[in-house]
Amino acid sequence: MKKVRKAVFPVAGLGTRFLPATKTIPKEMLTVVDRPVIQYVMDEARDAGIEHFIFVTGRNKTVIEDYFDVQFELYNTLAERGKNDQLDLLRETQPKPGQTSFTRQQVPLGLGHAVWCARELVGDEPFALLLPDMIMQSENGCLKDMVELYQHTGSNIVAVQECDPEETHKYGVVGRGDEAHSGFEITGMVEKPPHGTAPSNLYINGRYILQPEIFPLLEAQERGAGGEIQLTDAMLKLMTDQAFYGFHYRGRTFDCGSREGFVEANVAFALWRPDIYPNIVKVIEDLLESTKPMERRSKPR
Ligand code: G1P
Repeated sequence: MKKVRKAVFPVAGLGTRFLPATKTIPKEMLTVVDRPVIQYVMDEARDAGIEHFIFVTGRNKTVIEDYFDVQFELYNTLAERGKNDQLDLLRETQPKPGQTSFTRQQVPLGLGHAVWCARELVGDEPFALLLPDMIMQSENGCLKDMVELYQHTGSNIVAVQECDPEETHKYGVVGRGDEAHSGFEITGMVEKPPHGTAPSNLYINGRYILQPEIFPLLEAQERGAGGEIQLTDAMLKLMTDQAFYGFHYRGRTFDCGSREGFVEANVAFALWRPDIYPNIVKVIEDLLESTKPMERRSKPR
């Protein structure tokens, strides 16, 4: 069985839900506490043993490439000033030379198309796929546990979580079959099922381990839900030849593609940090006591 060495991060999305900030800042660079959203996802991949990080970017996203580069002036200044804690932090979050690759999704045709754009960089081996909108909180990273399940089952792994049955139309949803090791066999999947038609309430949470045979299927892909080339449709086709296993993730997932999810992630990760926990608890309590929503008239313009 081939090791999962590479991870793909589709980061081409426009981030319209975060306008006006995303006029100049990619949504993946918005900060949760003190680091960009993309750093959390990259750390999850690295903790799972990933050695090469492939970013499928778009126009106005070059700052992501800059972010993962070494900034000599900053390093030198910190070293001169003896700021070793900050230097350590930078080194911990920094990929090693040659560990990153960047390619562009030239047209916004959907997630399936974005993944297909990484085919040459992935080559003929299994790969992890992490959707950067979704960041996760648990002792063991979601992808790390998926890699373990992969080592027992091989094939393809999709992470899922339970959602309110009223919410299934927002996601890809899988059908649940027999248990297998720490996961289960997936019997089917559908992207954004209309109300009342979902095969379960297990939604795809944005973490995948896929075999390279997905690429030719994506290439021949017709448009699916929302008029986009859907990864879920290609995975369903691949299911006729290869097994798919579900990994039921029990940690917390925050959808940083939505404003509520992004704010929730900031609060949750601040509360998770022992250095700032006590102050944050106090700040939140005080704010809850003293704040009401603004009157419509006084909204910022
Ligand atoms: C994508 C996937 C969907 C998955 C979701 C998780 O949808 O197509 O299957 O459930 O991510 O966030 P999107 O959020 O791009 O509409």
